[in-house]
Amino acid sequence: MKWGTWLAAALSGLIWNSALAGEGVQSSCEGCHIEAAAAFGRSAMSRAASTSTFLAEWKHKGEDKACLACHAPSGGAGVQCRDCHVGSDHPFSKLDVPNVCASCHDAPGELTVRSFLRSEALKDGYGCLDCHTESRGGDVHDITGPSRAEFLTRVGRLRVSVATGPQGDVAVVSISHSAGHALPGGTSGRAVWLVVEGLDDVGVAVWRALTRFGWEYASDGGWTDKTLKPNRTAIVEIGDLHRAGARKLRTSLVYQFTAGEYDAPEAVHEQMDQVEISFPSTKP
Ligand code: HEC
Ligand code: HEC
Ligand code: HEC
Ligand code: HEC
Ligand code: HEC
Repeated sequence: MKWGTWLAAALSGLIWNSALAGEGVQSSCEGCHIEAAAAFGRSAMSRAASTSTFLAEWKHKGEDKACLACHAPSGGAGVQCRDCHVGSDHPFSKLDVPNVCASCHDAPGELTVRSFLRSEALKDGYGCLDCHTESRGGDVHDITGPSRAEFLTRVGRLRVSVATGPQGDVAVVSISHSAGHALPGGTSGRAVWLVVEGLDDVGVAVWRALTRFGWEYASDGGWTDKTLKPNRTAIVEIGDLHRAGARKLRTSLVYQFTAGEYDAPEAVHEQMDQVEISFPSTKP
């Protein structure tokens, strides 16, 4: 560290001032902070403005500059060092997580930070990075999430039972999850679907009921929060189970990556949980 401090001091007049002068800021951080740069380079954030998914949607939106306020505030391929390490004095002071994340993860149609501040996870002592770094104890910049498929396993839980009431059999589906904030976290670009299907004797789906969780865009331009809250169980009831000769029920919880125009559970998705049960009674 002494050597590094000396180096930083010695070079500060030379490299540092020119590095801060605009272009090449990212590469200059990388040159000295090799591990941080390599770890952050693995995060989807570092490529947020250069994936084909982003570029396609951005083009479709007329290359709206407002998108870059979160996807690449300093230009380039995505989020950069200086987007979190703000200020002018190097070495920068310690960051305040989650406030530093809020500039992009707390906005209209996005309540990840707010929802975290009200969660049990916070009371239990978890921070964003406890759940979102690739390897605990590794580099803090290894920030990952649902873009890594395994990340979503065991997060969502379905429980299904069938109750018989005056209207006949009703399936009661309860959904709970262990994310430290809303499910789906993040923006309106994500949705979670509950897919309930009635299956016939040979397992073919004869009907299907869909429930969507996530942000809902209203015609007046506002967003309505229909996400699954942390530490709360959501209940969905489905009636008329025996229609079309159904004998079994298959319920699936699906994480959908591209909402908006592509809003359907068949879009790019990851299955979170699935439960299959037979009906307790067979009706005529
Ligand atoms: C010339 C090499 C060099 C460059 C360029 C450089 N740093 Fe540093 N940085 C260092 C050294 C050496 C330290 C340790 C200094 C100390 O502990 O007093 C440091 C410390 C830091 C710290 C605080 C680390 C701690 O221990 O709390 C942060 C954050 C940081 N740098 C971020 C950046 C960012 C972001 C950039 C690009 C805008 C950058 N650095 C560019 C050499 C550099
Ligand atoms: C998404 C926000 C974010 C981005 C982008 C980011 N950092 Fe950090 N950085 C953090 C957080 C959080 C910490 C841990 C808290 C602290 O030390 O302030 C941290 C800590 C550091 C530290 C001190 C601890 C360590 O790892 O040695 C350095 C140095 C650093 N960052 C450099 C960089 C460099 C270089 C880049 C660009 C390649 C970068 N950071 C990009 C959030 C970020
Ligand atoms: C207790 C663990 C936990 C904590 C704490 C936590 N998260 Fe998450 N996060 C998850 C899980 C699990 C998911 C995937 C399910 C979902 O979308 O809710 C997720 C999803 C996300 C997403 C969605 C990414 C995408 O590509 O769809 C973002 C963004 C996010 N988290 C940011 C944060 C931020 C910022 C914080 C701190 C304010 C935080 N998370 C705290 C577990 C956690
Ligand atoms: C400058 C804006 C910005 C800041 C600041 C920021 N993020 Fe992000 N973050 C993004 C964008 C944009 C994406 C979407 C990247 C993509 O999927 O292409 C993202 C994605 C993520 C994801 C999902 C990654 C994945 O692999 O699925 C997590 C988790 C996340 N951010 C956590 C954090 C945390 C924790 C902080 C604070 C330490 C933070 N972000 C700060 C803009 C930001
Ligand atoms: C307030 C910050 C913010 C703004 C503004 C923003 N985004 Fe995002 N965007 C995110 C975050 C954070 C994610 C990561 C996924 C999530 O959180 O749902 C994301 C994810 C995406 C994704 C999915 C990336 C993938 O690989 O799955 C696309 C595409 C996207 N945004 C396009 C856009 C476009 C186009 C605009 C402008 C019309 C825009 N975004 C404006 C924060 C933002």
